[in-house]
Amino acid sequence: MNQSMKAVGLKEYLPINHAKALIDTTLPVPTPGERDLLVRVEAVSVNPVDTKVRRSNRPAESDFRVLGWDAAGTVVAVGSKVEFFKPGDEVFYAGDITRAGSNSEFQRVDERIVGKKPKSVSVAEAAALPLTSITAGEGLFDRLGIIPENSVGKTVLIIGGAGGVGSIAIQLAKQITGLRIIATASRRESQEWCLSLGADTVIDHHQNMVEAFRAQGAQYADYIFCLNSTAKHWASMCELIAPQGTICSIVEPEAPLDLSLLKSKSVGFVWESMFTRSMFKTDDMQKQGALLNRIAAWIDEGKIKTSLNKTLSPINAENLKNAHAQIETGTTIGKIVVKDW
Ligand SMILES: NC(=O)c1ccc[n+]([C@@H]2O[C@H](COP(=O)([O-])OP(=O)(O)OC[C@H]3O[C@@H](n4cnc5c(N)ncnc54)[C@H](OP(=O)(O)O)[C@@H]3O)[C@@H](O)[C@H]2O)c1
Repeated sequence: MNQSMKAVGLKEYLPINHAKALIDTTLPVPTPGERDLLVRVEAVSVNPVDTKVRRSNRPAESDFRVLGWDAAGTVVAVGSKVEFFKPGDEVFYAGDITRAGSNSEFQRVDERIVGKKPKSVSVAEAAALPLTSITAGEGLFDRLGIIPENSVGKTVLIIGGAGGVGSIAIQLAKQITGLRIIATASRRESQEWCLSLGADTVIDHHQNMVEAFRAQGAQYADYIFCLNSTAKHWASMCELIAPQGTICSIVEPEAPLDLSLLKSKSVGFVWESMFTRSMFKTDDMQKQGALLNRIAAWIDEGKIKTSLNKTLSPINAENLKNAHAQIETGTTIGKIVVKDW
């Protein structure tokens, strides 16, 4: 194997229209640690976290920093204590925000947060899935505590239904639970996308959400999964959540949240951050690998489908900049993938 590899990343944290916002470079191929896989990356997808890190205004790095937290590819080497994978295995994973990202020809990743790629889809279609599937799965099942067998007759409100996370959350809620799904989307194409994935009803998050929700004949949502603009939607969520219900958000608020609004209804509020398990090496971090394997099985059984909506090629600074710029518009439907070197 070559000892150097192509990579895309940054030294300075810059706006996307800056020439050096993302740069093509060459780096040494990393050596896998004990529990690591070394993966040949064949496709990556771009998430809002990539753009948030890139424009974070931090001081410049002395070393080159590789971004990217979604990949599909093939294992080429394994660390001495790897148990579940071998060279040649096709895999997909989101990775770990504290380590180098996937925008490089080779990446090392802890095997406990990796799944076997679904067999029935392309590498690009697989690369669209990991980060959003982990977020949607952990949010619905670990944080909101939805138990599929006990969900019939209950309602979930998914705010931001057509984005990357919403596209998987709607499908999981539809296929794995018996919940009634009210999703939000503001444009005809994003509304149609949500309905095609299994939302029972779509309401517009730019209109009065309480009125629009109640016009559907429901007073309260038993669960609210907030995937956008947490502070902006906070008052509506506090009004719409059922007594003893639960709200989960994945988006840092633009302003402090008034938790006291939840007290009279004994409502629970919980964060989902899909990097928690890898960042803190929690005892249960292997649950992410297991969740990805379950997602792969549901894809192969035809229960859920990839949310890939746009593919760019090859993986280089120019195409990654285009993908970052699109994500920053806040209007992405499904996922953008960049494939091949
Ligand atoms: N905590 C975590 O672990 C975690 C994981 C993944 C993502 N996130 C965060 O979650 C957010 C969503 O991620 P994503 O990948 O789904 O993003 P995305 O794909 O970029 O989301 C785009 C969607 O957001 C919708 N949207 C725009 N403004 C909105 C508003 N005011 N209210 C509700 N929806 C709105 C748009 O729908 P319309 O065009 O119909 O308006 C669009 O379809 C990002 O902030 C991301 O950083 C957090």
